[in-house]
Amino acid sequence: MGEPASAPVGVFDSGVGGLSVLGEIQKLLPGETLLYAGDCGHTPYGEKPAAYIRERCVAIAEFFHRRGAKALVIACNTATAAAAADLRAHYPGWPIIGMEPAVKPAALATRSGTVGVLATTGTLQSARFAALLDRFAADVTVVTQPCPGLVELIEMGDLHSPHLRALLSHYLQPMLDAGCDTLILGCTHYPFLKPLLHELLPTDVALVDTGAAVARQLQRLLTQGGLLNLGQAGATQYWTSGSVEHFRNVLHAFGMHSDVVESLGT
Ligand code: DGL
Repeated sequence: MGEPASAPVGVFDSGVGGLSVLGEIQKLLPGETLLYAGDCGHTPYGEKPAAYIRERCVAIAEFFHRRGAKALVIACNTATAAAAADLRAHYPGWPIIGMEPAVKPAALATRSGTVGVLATTGTLQSARFAALLDRFAADVTVVTQPCPGLVELIEMGDLHSPHLRALLSHYLQPMLDAGCDTLILGCTHYPFLKPLLHELLPTDVALVDTGAAVARQLQRLLTQGGLLNLGQAGATQYWTSGSVEHFRNVLHAFGMHSDVVESLGT
C-alpha cells in the first residue's frame, strides 16, 4: 500500500458501538487521525445473515481504502466473525485489525470456573466463536447469551431506561444462576452499559471487554509497519449511513466530541 504515517486509520461498526473502541484508540494513540463509520442505516448486524454483513463491510472498507487509510479496525465482533477473513483476502498487505470476545483473558481470570458471554446471535453462532471456545475455554464452563434488542436501544442513545434495565436483567439472570463470576462483553455496544451493569451485578462479578486490547494491537501493527503517527493531536471525522443529526446527538449523549459528521452515502 505504501501509505505514509500521516495517513488516517479507518474504524467502523454496525453503528455507534465501535465508539467504545474508538475511545480506546484515541486514548492510546492521540497522534492518529481517525475516520469512523457507523453503519447505523443497516444496524443491527447481530441478527442479519453473514452474506449481508460481508457486503456492508466490503462497501465500508472500500470507502476507507479510497481515502488512503493506512489501517482498518473492524470495531465490531459480529462483522469480524462474518467478514474479517474476506476483507484480509481482498486487501492483502493492508493492516486489518478485527476483534472477538475476550474468552482467553476471561478463562484465565475466572475463580468460579464459569464465565458468561454476552454477544450478538451472529457472533455466538459463528465458526470463529466456536474455534475460540475450542482454543481457550477447554477448562472452563462457558454460558453464552445472545441479547437481541440491546443494540437497538443503545443505538437510540438509551443507556438506562426502565425497558433497557428489564431486558438486561433478563439476559443476566441465567448467567448469574449458573455461577458466572466473569462476564465477557462480546459486542462493542455493551461497554456503554457498564454503569448499569455495575448497578445490576453483584460486586464480585468482573466485566471483560476488548477495546483496549484492539487499540494495543493497532499500535503494534502500526509500529511494525513504521506507520505510527507521533505528530500532534489527530482529529476524528465521522460518517454514518443513518441520520447525521441522530448520530451527532448520540455522540454527545456518550460524551464524545463530534468534530465532523457526514453521510456515508452507501
Ligand atoms: N457492535 C457489534 C458487535 O460488536 C454488533 C452490534 C449489532 O448487532 O449490530 O458485535
